Amino acid sequence: MPVETGCGTMKLKSREELIKYREEAKKQMLERSMEKTSIFVGMGTCGIAAGAREVMAAILEEVNKRNLQVNVIQTGCIGMCEQEPLVDVQRPGEDRITYRKVRPSDVPRIIVGHVMHGKIVEDLAIARFEEI
Ligand code: FES
Repeated sequence: MPVETGCGTMKLKSREELIKYREEAKKQMLERSMEKTSIFVGMGTCGIAAGAREVMAAILEEVNKRNLQVNVIQTGCIGMCEQEPLVDVQRPGEDRITYRKVRPSDVPRIIVGHVMHGKIVEDLAIARFEEI
């Protein structure tokens, strides 16, 4: 069974080889995404009602303006409606920090301070999760 590998076509001889190939590809994808900073934006109903769309737009604008190589990921509700919009920043090898009640005007501080320079924006931070 021929499989496109990105650097040509590879022939897999068995189902086991296909499973192994897929697992390896998944692992590589995960490793690649862990090398970059990830920004998570809560886009559940409560997040959107609290202004998460505007916060997401501000994040994307800031990321594009600065040409940053980061993952921007939408997440669902985590049960903290009253703290929305919630934004998490996870820099590679560092704790994941959750920011609460983020407004579009807070986004440059988070991007420049934390994402770019590793400085946590303490007045907005609500939680810290150790890297897994
Ligand atoms: S929708 Fe967010 S806590 Fe219920």
